[in-house]
Amino acid sequence: MTFKKNILCIGAGYVGGPTMATIAYKCPQYKVTVVDIDSERIAQWNSDNLPIYEPGLDEIVKTTRDRNLFFDTDIKRGVKGSDIIFVSVNTPTKTFGAGAGMAADLQYWEKTARQIREYAQSHKIIVEKSTLPVKTALAMERILTSSDNEISFEVLSNPEFLAEGTAIKDLEYPDRVLIGSRETASGLKARDELVEIYANWVPRERIITSNIWSSELSKLVANAFLAQRISSINSITALCEKTDADIIEVARAVGMDSRLGSKFLDASVGFGGSCFKKDILNLVYLCRHYGLEEVADYWEGIVRINDYQKERFVLKMLSAMFNTLAGKKICLFGFAFKANTGDTRESPAIFIAKRLLEEKAELVITDPKALKNAMMDLYGIHENIRYVEDPYEASAGCDAIAVMTEWELYANLDFEKIYRSMGKPAFIFDGRNILDHTRLFEIGFNVFPIGKPALTHF
Ligand SMILES: NC(=O)c1ccc[n+]([C@@H]2O[C@H](COP(=O)([O-])OP(=O)(O)OC[C@H]3O[C@@H](n4cnc5c(N)ncnc54)[C@H](O)[C@@H]3O)[C@@H](O)[C@H]2O)c1
Repeated sequence: MTFKKNILCIGAGYVGGPTMATIAYKCPQYKVTVVDIDSERIAQWNSDNLPIYEPGLDEIVKTTRDRNLFFDTDIKRGVKGSDIIFVSVNTPTKTFGAGAGMAADLQYWEKTARQIREYAQSHKIIVEKSTLPVKTALAMERILTSSDNEISFEVLSNPEFLAEGTAIKDLEYPDRVLIGSRETASGLKARDELVEIYANWVPRERIITSNIWSSELSKLVANAFLAQRISSINSITALCEKTDADIIEVARAVGMDSRLGSKFLDASVGFGGSCFKKDILNLVYLCRHYGLEEVADYWEGIVRINDYQKERFVLKMLSAMFNTLAGKKICLFGFAFKANTGDTRESPAIFIAKRLLEEKAELVITDPKALKNAMMDLYGIHENIRYVEDPYEASAGCDAIAVMTEWELYANLDFEKIYRSMGKPAFIFDGRNILDHTRLFEIGFNVFPIGKPALTHF
């Protein structure tokens, strides 16, 4: 079968995999190949056991794989045979040298640019899918055009706004698709080619275009605003706990203002995920680079509140459980950074597990999808941790349960049965406010929600 165009995606991760599966599903006329240096990951994409859990993903991969969706390790062949190349490699926070702990680490990105330059034999459109500091396209263009061959490249920015856990829905019905380009004739032509792909399923008015720098910056700003809402509501939980106000009532009253809206106002133990912290720090670093100290400090405060919220949770557990956790058994309900994903990157559960271990508590960790990742996050710490998938078995014999992830299944457990199997007094610290606190109190638990008065029997 001949295809209209060949699309390549470099990077088969949480973004590359679902995004390309969706394009292949919606556009059978395009051939889509996803490549990665991680051969194990590619083997998993080609198996029945996909490397990531995402509702709805299995079905679309099954429909499209080996029809017009292919997973491969041969980057050279992929680049040669492609017309459009999406780059969706990881861009983590730098851990070394200048900007360590703040700036984006662009080594994977740059390596990809050099590979494209080396293997390309004809004109290519390069699409930035990864989240990048503003002005990265300039660096990409410089690398791509710094060889003697006559091949031309056009770089576009097309940041991805999907959220893990709802990735397929977000890709099928995006709020918007943003495409940034150079405002030259060739830039606009390339932009139109990308618009044409998305227009196969996204209404035209939701496909927005901009200059390339606005597009790069918009992604960082969107994540900073989302995280800002979480830190804003979380900062108020501390005040609620001092004043007997109830964060759920406050959030409802605030969120019903149509200028604000009700989403992203759920108080919690803190935000996690691979993006929010790194993208805000990236924004902060950019502001400092341009000498904008006040702006940098403003956005950095969001990360500080998030760290504060996680530490506050541990200190609350410590003080509620008579100022000592040594030798006490604590069951963590959930380890993923949020529900409906197995991803644990930057999960608040990692920080809390480590802090509880420092307090010499014994941990039992349970999660329906993230236990394998949890084991890797806590790799090397063998003592005092058990991993148990069944929440009833996990909590039996424990002194306390701490809810880390808002998995729906936790709200529907038989807590009478759990209470009977636990040590007494039994504690529940609901880091996501998903449980029925009054009912738990009636059963006999001492209940500590976030941003609401505690319900205790003492
Ligand atoms: N995860 C999200 O929810 C999300 C959402 C929007 C945007 N993003 C952005 O998308 C980008 C990718 O994120 P992710 O979560 O998919 O990361 P990921 O770590 O899951 O995937 C990145 C993949 O790129 C591969 N890779 C690295 N260098 C390579 C190279 N030279 N050649 C081929 N493959 C290479 C890695 O092996 C890895 O499999 C990041 O910039 C991130 O900020 C992520």
